Amino acid sequence: MIQSLRGMRDIAGREARIFQWIEERARYFFELYGYREIKLPVMERTELFSRGIGDESDIVQKEMYTFEDRKGRSVTLRPEGTAGVVRHYIENGFDKRDPLKKFYYSGAMFRYERPQKGRYRQFYQFGVEAFGMESPLIDADTIAMLVDYFRDIGIESPLVKVNNIGCPGCRPDYNRALQGYLRNHEERLCPDCRKRIETNPLRVLDCKRESCRKVVADSPDIADFLCDSCRSYDEEFQKLLSARKIPFERDRFLVRGLDYYVKTVFEIHGGEGAQNALMGGGRYDGLVEALGGQPVPGFGFAIGVDRLASLLMETSLFEDDPGKLFMVWNLEEQALLLEKCDILRKCGVSVDFLPDKRSFSNQLKYAHRQGYRHVVILGEEEALSEQIHLKNMETGDETYVSPYDIIEHLI
Ligand code: HAM
Repeated sequence: MIQSLRGMRDIAGREARIFQWIEERARYFFELYGYREIKLPVMERTELFSRGIGDESDIVQKEMYTFEDRKGRSVTLRPEGTAGVVRHYIENGFDKRDPLKKFYYSGAMFRYERPQKGRYRQFYQFGVEAFGMESPLIDADTIAMLVDYFRDIGIESPLVKVNNIGCPGCRPDYNRALQGYLRNHEERLCPDCRKRIETNPLRVLDCKRESCRKVVADSPDIADFLCDSCRSYDEEFQKLLSARKIPFERDRFLVRGLDYYVKTVFEIHGGEGAQNALMGGGRYDGLVEALGGQPVPGFGFAIGVDRLASLLMETSLFEDDPGKLFMVWNLEEQALLLEKCDILRKCGVSVDFLPDKRSFSNQLKYAHRQGYRHVVILGEEEALSEQIHLKNMETGDETYVSPYDIIEHLI
């Protein structure tokens, strides 16, 4: 038997239905807020990610699926969507002639991580990217959209964590202060964080190890180092979130794992105590320029669909196929079966049947095993009637209804 690769899984059954449903709702909200869809290749030139996400990030250092194509060029399966959208944006010259753009995307991403619950090597994201708008209005409006979306799909109290990690003007000062502090406590840090002191000190702040968490608890706070522009940006942003009645908390250890962020960063967790972030995002005002375009600001986020679906698998109000019907049939003229199915499907009802001839009781047992809540009985007599003979499998009740009214009987 050939098995799937470690960290790569199939999404099927109820989980696949939940994926479909949350994607439909996400599209609805993204479109409502002016984002338009883009479909991107899953593979790009490696340098797009190494330059975009940052050479020192964990993703680029150890998590990319990178290999040579048949002509010896280095290519990488996308570990995230932002860099690809930025490439599209520059390649089409939007940075020069039409900078205000809002995109959304969905699809598989690939990271060679250690697989565990909520962490896969192939996982799915829905994301949005807004270009050309450097204003706390867009940050707050986009987060409001997300919170509305999460509530819509049944996550009542999404926990929004925000932070401002400064800009190239003020972050170097903070980095120096943080490095000074961390060097004094180096022996208490994990080996990875010891290296990060010199290469990427900000990332020490979100190390999950207990010993590192204790060290950073007393580290300098970036809020004390922000320049006037970042500080007033952050104040306005928080004011707008409050005015829009979005509950949030500032988390000074929230720094995010990709190096392109400036100013606003944020994450949403499923609720109090939830370990893994359901999504993450922030502002990346230098990324378009770093990838060869004009200096155009950007803001966006990506939702981890696997994590969202897994939360909803346990808690969701999502009804799997309430309108699904199974046709139990016994007819000489088989074309009549297709005709009846056609009428029901045109009325928007999902109908299925077994194509081989079996006894009624055998078909009913099959429908029961498959979890159908309603079946349609179709014998010679019913085939001549305009009414549908409907049986409720849970109560045993039988009724005759018009196909046009049938949906009401299935909910
Ligand atoms: P990220 O935080 O790396 O950000 O990923 C966003 C979300 O994807 C995470 O919060 C998580 O839910 C999910 N995720 C990440 N890695 C895995 C994994 N191995 N298995 C399952 N789920 C995972 C980004 O990717 C940025 N591009 C977001 C962004 C867009 N920032 C600005 N624009």
